This record gives sequence, structure tokens and C-alpha cells, in this order.
Amino acid sequence: MAKIISICNQKGGVGKTTSAINISAALAHNGRRVLLVDMDPQGNASQGVGFDISLLNKCVLDVLNDGQSIRKVIKKTNFENLDLLPSKLKLASMDDLDSSSQKYHILKDCLMKIEDQYDYIIIDCPPSFGFLTLNSLVASNTVIIPVQCEYFAMAAISQMLATISRIQSSLNPSLSIEGFLLTMYDSKTNMDTDITIQVRSLFKENTFLTQIPRNISIPESNQRGEPVTSYRPTSSGALAYFALAKEIIDHETF
Ligand SMILES: Nc1ncnc2c1ncn2[C@@H]1O[C@H](COP(=O)(O)OP(=O)(O)OP(=O)(O)O)[C@@H](O)[C@H]1O
Ligand SMILES: [Mg+2]
Repeated sequence: MAKIISICNQKGGVGKTTSAINISAALAHNGRRVLLVDMDPQGNASQGVGFDISLLNKCVLDVLNDGQSIRKVIKKTNFENLDLLPSKLKLASMDDLDSSSQKYHILKDCLMKIEDQYDYIIIDCPPSFGFLTLNSLVASNTVIIPVQCEYFAMAAISQMLATISRIQSSLNPSLSIEGFLLTMYDSKTNMDTDITIQVRSLFKENTFLTQIPRNISIPESNQRGEPVTSYRPTSSGALAYFALAKEIIDHETF
């Protein structure tokens, strides 16, 4: 059975998609079979592993909304052990749905059909708490919360924690936190160091030892539609994601 991990923070631009792409790629590099699920209407994760979303016939919306077979919508990527459940822009309409709680289980039910084919399913969440994010969190065993080292980070964390506890007390009691992940870290600024110390002291056990440095190879790789772990495998960004994947693998209990 796959371990299902959402990469989630309602705050925009904190490194969710970059982390989803590169955690997936680094786990795949370590021989794990990985499905990357793009739940964001922006389709950035799909683009980040090499797909032109304007050319996609079917996407995750067709699975969630129209009962399309998930097997038919999953794409093989050019990277060994890495598959993608893509999204494209029409997904935006889904966040407007006024859904009954049953609707929050659709993704979970779909993933159950294919999870025996993977070791990890990594879900890239959109920067909001609507239908798509709730479906992601209901389907997940754990959550990784990327925290960008900047002033409003702590407010976003408390909102995330409130959402997670709401989901734990209703839709998914077994949801747990895989870890807080410090992203875009720059050791040269005092603010980054302050935020890092604050997060590590508040969430000691739950913060990954690895922090992701600010590294120019990362936006370059996103633009090229390739994980940084394959575009520049020796860059500081790639090395950090390889180290992070090792920490996630160390959490495996079997
Ligand atoms: N470690 C890093 N170093 C430098 N740039 C980075 C790093 N991580 C992410 N970026 C860049 O920061 C921007 C935001 O990253 P990303 O798209 O991963 O965030 P996001 O949380 O998924 O955003 P959104 O909330 O819009 O979905 C992108 O341009 C990305 O290339
Ligand atoms: Mg994103």
C-alpha cells in the first residue's frame, strides 16, 4: 500500500509545487515507485515534470467529477519510477462547489484503486482550503507543510494546524504531520535564521532536519519542466531534496 503525502500550505508561493516535484523525483531516484498527483488548477506540477498542459486530453478533474478511470488519466513521465496524475486549468471550477462531506472522499476512493502500484503518492495542493485541498487531506496519511522563511510564516502555520485538527476530528482521524519543511532558506539574512529557530523550537520533533536553500537552479529547472534533481543533480537545491527524501524514507516503518 502506498504512503499518501499531501504537500500543503494555504499560503501562496512557499515552495509546495517545487517540493512535490522534487520529493517525488528524489524518492523515485531511490527506487521507490511514485505517483505525483497535481491537485492545483495552475497545473504547475504537471508542467514541472515535462507536460504541456494545453495538450492534455484528460486530467484529475475528469476522474473526480466525471468518473473517468484513474488508470486512463495517469501519465508516465520521462523519469524512471515517476508517474503523474495531471491537472489543467478547468479544475478551477471545482473549488466553487458547495459539497457534501461525501464529496471530500472522491480522491481517496480513486487512489484506493491504484495505490498498490506505488510506494508513495505525493499530492501537490493548491494555495486554498477548498474542495481540492480537503479531498487531498482526506486521502492522505500525512502532510508536509512547506514554510517559507519570511515574516508571515507563523500565521500560516497556525492556520494550517487549525485545519489539520478540524480534519482529524471529522473527515480523517488518522491524518498526521510528516513534517514542517523550511524552504528558500538564505543563511545570509537574519530573518531567515530567526524564523528557522522559531519553527525548530516550536515544532522540534516535527521539523525536517533538511532545509531547502534558495538556489537559482530550482526556478531554472521548473521553467525547463524537469526536477532539479535531474537538471542539476549536484546543485545545493537538488542535494537538499535528496537529503529530504532520505529523511522521508527513514520514516518508513516496515
Ligand atoms: N529553493 C528555492 N530557491 C529559489 N527559488 C525557489 C525555491 N523554491 C521555489 N522557488 C521558486 O519560488 C516560486 C514559488 O514556488 P512554488 O511554485 O513551488 O510555490 P507554491 O507554494 O507551489 O506556489 P502556489 O501557492 O502558487 O502554488 C517559483 O517561481 C519557484 O521556482
Ligand atoms: Mg503550487
